Amino acid sequence: MRTPKLLTAVLLLNIVPTVCAQSTAGAAPQHHLLPVPASVRIEPGRLPIDKSFTVAVTQHRDARLLRGVARALLRLKARTGVEFSHEIKKDAAAATFTIQVSGPGEAVQSIAENESYSLRVAAQQATLKAATVVGALRGLETFLQLVERDASGAFLPLADIADQPRFPWRGLLIDVCRHWQPVEVIKRNLDAMAAVKLNVFHWHLSADQGFRIESRRFPKLHEFGSDGLYYTQEQVRDVVAYARDRGIRVVPEFDMPGHSTSWFVGDARYATAPGPYAIIREFGVFDATFDPTREEVYRFLDKFIGEMKSLFPDAYWHIGGDEVKSKQWDSSPAIAAFKKRRGLKDNEALQAWFNQRLSRILQKHNKRMVGWDEIFHSDLPKDTVVQSWRGQKSLGEGAKQGFHGILSAGYYLDAMQTSAFHYAVDPLPASSDLDPAAAGRILGGEVCMWGELITPENIDSRIWPRSAAIAERLWSPRSVADVSDMYRRLGRVSLQLEEVGLRHLSGPDAMLRRLAGTSDIEPLRELLRLVEPLSLGQRQRARRATQLTPLTTLGDIASPDAPARRDFSALVGAFLLDSSRDPGKRQALSREFQRWRELAAEIARLAASSPQLQDAAGVAATLTELAATGEEAVSFIGEGKTPPDGWTAAKLALLDRAAAPQGLVRFAVIPALRELVTSAGGSHPAAP
Ligand code: ACM
Repeated sequence: MRTPKLLTAVLLLNIVPTVCAQSTAGAAPQHHLLPVPASVRIEPGRLPIDKSFTVAVTQHRDARLLRGVARALLRLKARTGVEFSHEIKKDAAAATFTIQVSGPGEAVQSIAENESYSLRVAAQQATLKAATVVGALRGLETFLQLVERDASGAFLPLADIADQPRFPWRGLLIDVCRHWQPVEVIKRNLDAMAAVKLNVFHWHLSADQGFRIESRRFPKLHEFGSDGLYYTQEQVRDVVAYARDRGIRVVPEFDMPGHSTSWFVGDARYATAPGPYAIIREFGVFDATFDPTREEVYRFLDKFIGEMKSLFPDAYWHIGGDEVKSKQWDSSPAIAAFKKRRGLKDNEALQAWFNQRLSRILQKHNKRMVGWDEIFHSDLPKDTVVQSWRGQKSLGEGAKQGFHGILSAGYYLDAMQTSAFHYAVDPLPASSDLDPAAAGRILGGEVCMWGELITPENIDSRIWPRSAAIAERLWSPRSVADVSDMYRRLGRVSLQLEEVGLRHLSGPDAMLRRLAGTSDIEPLRELLRLVEPLSLGQRQRARRATQLTPLTTLGDIASPDAPARRDFSALVGAFLLDSSRDPGKRQALSREFQRWRELAAEIARLAASSPQLQDAAGVAATLTELAATGEEAVSFIGEGKTPPDGWTAAKLALLDRAAAPQGLVRFAVIPALRELVTSAGGSHPAAP
């Protein structure tokens, strides 16, 4: 879906991140909490977690809360290796950890749900207090993140935390249409969302490439639109209940009037053109559109929504509304006549007409409408939520006109940007010109995991841990913006996310073993520290993938935000800053380049034995050149020599070539190498 070129432009032009290098104040003991709580004080001292550890839930005790506590205890036991009682006592007196919750919270979680909690860890006892079960669930995650270990055992640092979210809408969209994602993938991602306090699962259930939910009233939808890959209604109920157990709302998206081919494969009556239609295997924007001029279309949508609403208790309903192609509407004389009759001057006005009809149907079913930027129109009810994917500007404009908004521009994971990039994107930046009333209409943001390039095998490593950085942006105060501190905490949280079932760290190894046909994958693992997957746009230009393409190559396995992007930059930075020319820093870089050369040779050998690894041969050749370039730059700088004429220009040109896609990956080390080459080309103090 989407126009990657436009998206890239939006990302580059509208929201160039401002990386704020504010340092952590004072010398208070460090914590690893992510998101950082609204208020947190860590004090010297500890509360040990040993065999005598017990937990009590003393006031409100409902099944949802007790399940949440039981899950937390299992994770605590696995993490600490301590065998303690599973009994959830009622009496605080003897408990190490007391949980006091005032009541259940809302029967259907809304954007107004109270998610606040306080957590006090004293030397004898920890106490978690919350008004609602959801608040307690948030506090339990903080409790688990606080756990530390050292040679003397597991413990909590003494702490005083009072916490609440900055934004009420903190979402993750998963597109299950372009590639199918079974229930277990959704569930483990819900667990991961809860671990970082995300609270809306946006389930993108229909697109040109798939209609992914069972309709009993209109069974041709899933029978013809899904290749048999759809959720039964029982599975949907199960997922919605699973999400509620974790304090997560589920907002379904049924994209219309465009992106709608799969609806019409079994029955084309409601489409603008008669068809026939087939499930689309390509990615992009296609012709199929609902016909907005016929009453039976609205009768159908009324019945469809009437059926589906029993599965989705949330107050909000996403109608999509993005990227409507005009071809079918423009070639229909009936539509031309309709537009003329109603005074609708263009297709945008026609879509606005459609949305108003849809909005009335949703109102009848007690649902509030959410849609992408394109639905924005002054005639819609003011409780409509505009989800902004085309830029932050439209979010602000909507809010000024009285609409609620959520930001997704800048949170597109398929752009394969770094965590730091996404972290810098703020739904309400300090520079915002919105007055307090309009600012209050910005409900938050949503991470978008579009489905073109994801399978159940690699989806976790695209979503995580980057989404945790965005989760912090949406939960924590705006002033929490220290990028290196975020990465420090993200590293820890990333490990913990595998405790809840994610495979973002372990999954790539299994894929590499299959790719290489051997368990000797160490060289490939090392290579994946240096390279990243291509953005969706780059990938489609390099080698166009469809729904039928196996997503099993290096580029599908490599993770965004490769470790070397920061590790190698740090080595280069330390070397360049070191005016005393400490030989240790030079040696560290030389060792790195030497390793690249060896690696290149090992990869070339592996590539020769696997047809699927052919790309790797080219990557290895480039890596050899990069190693040589780095080596030369380091010796010029280290020896205080000026490179010969033309060296710098030639090497920068080489780096430009190396920055382009190599097969289906790109090198993450180019910016730091560029810095090295540019510095070598300048003047240097001679080595002592
Ligand atoms: C979108 O990316 N078309 C919402």
